[in-house]
Amino acid sequence: MISLKENTKNLSILIAFFSATGNTKKISNVIQKKLHDSNILVTMLDITSYASRKEEILLNQYDAVVFGFPIYSMRAPRVCREWLETLDGKGMKCSVFFTYGGFGKDPAHYFIKKLLEKQNFKLVSTAEFLGAHTFNRSGWKAVIDRPNQSDFEVAQDYVMKTVRRFLGDDLNELGEFEKPMYDVSQFDQAEKYRFSLITKLPTKDSKNCSMCGLCEKLCPVNAMNMQKGIADNRCIACFRCIVNCPDGILHTNDLSDSWDKKLKMHKMTKEEVDNLKSKIYL
Ligand SMILES: Cc1cc2nc3c(=O)[nH]c(=O)nc-3n(C[C@H](O)[C@H](O)[C@H](O)COP(=O)(O)O)c2cc1C
Repeated sequence: MISLKENTKNLSILIAFFSATGNTKKISNVIQKKLHDSNILVTMLDITSYASRKEEILLNQYDAVVFGFPIYSMRAPRVCREWLETLDGKGMKCSVFFTYGGFGKDPAHYFIKKLLEKQNFKLVSTAEFLGAHTFNRSGWKAVIDRPNQSDFEVAQDYVMKTVRRFLGDDLNELGEFEKPMYDVSQFDQAEKYRFSLITKLPTKDSKNCSMCGLCEKLCPVNAMNMQKGIADNRCIACFRCIVNCPDGILHTNDLSDSWDKKLKMHKMTKEEVDNLKSKIYL
């Protein structure tokens, strides 16, 4: 019997990921290393920047794609969905993994499967990994210190099981995800909910700005103006500018008050959120 290692020799996989604050990138890196160690050719494509999502990608150079996205308001971020809509998979096999902060992840799997099928991709697996919630930086406390080693081990298992599907060694097909009880317009409403929380978009809170320009350069949607030191209403509240500001002077409003409400809304305790496990769907 041919071993997985021999069989993978000529396999070429693209990992295309969006990561504003680094969680999705951490999982992408673990997956990249695991593939590399298994003799598989891997190419990384970071689509977080505005410019990178405008570049043409030649998918026919690869045998399969692994997409990595954070979950924003229960779905893949709108900018990622719009980017996917520019691709034609032409029947190519793919997989998607998400990182999320502990709440409302099921719809993301359902909607991404529908979208990828519309774009002519064949989705063979999905996965979800816990990642410290972006809003922790403004007062929430969800799954701090994730992803951790146990999440990375699930990521390694996920990608090797996915490779077996890419190679046709495992001919089982990914099942259907449960249809969410809300329709798309209700999810669009939920997306607006975060802006009812974030009443102050990232803003320079002090004069100690070194004018490095990183906030403007890194903004995934060109919403930040370094001169004014404030994001405009194109802002998607991804916190990329806040995380990367070397002067530490960019902030939103304090979100601490909404943390207890968030737990109540999801009928979960902090412990239950923190004890969630990363999961593979095959
Ligand atoms: C605008 C926005 C909306 C989010 N919505 C959700 C959500 O619905 N459920 C959840 O568990 N986490 C949510 N998160 C948290 C992120 O999914 C999580 O922190 C993710 O790991 C961030 O990935 P990154 O570090 O690669 O950017 C949201 C984060 C942002 C910025």
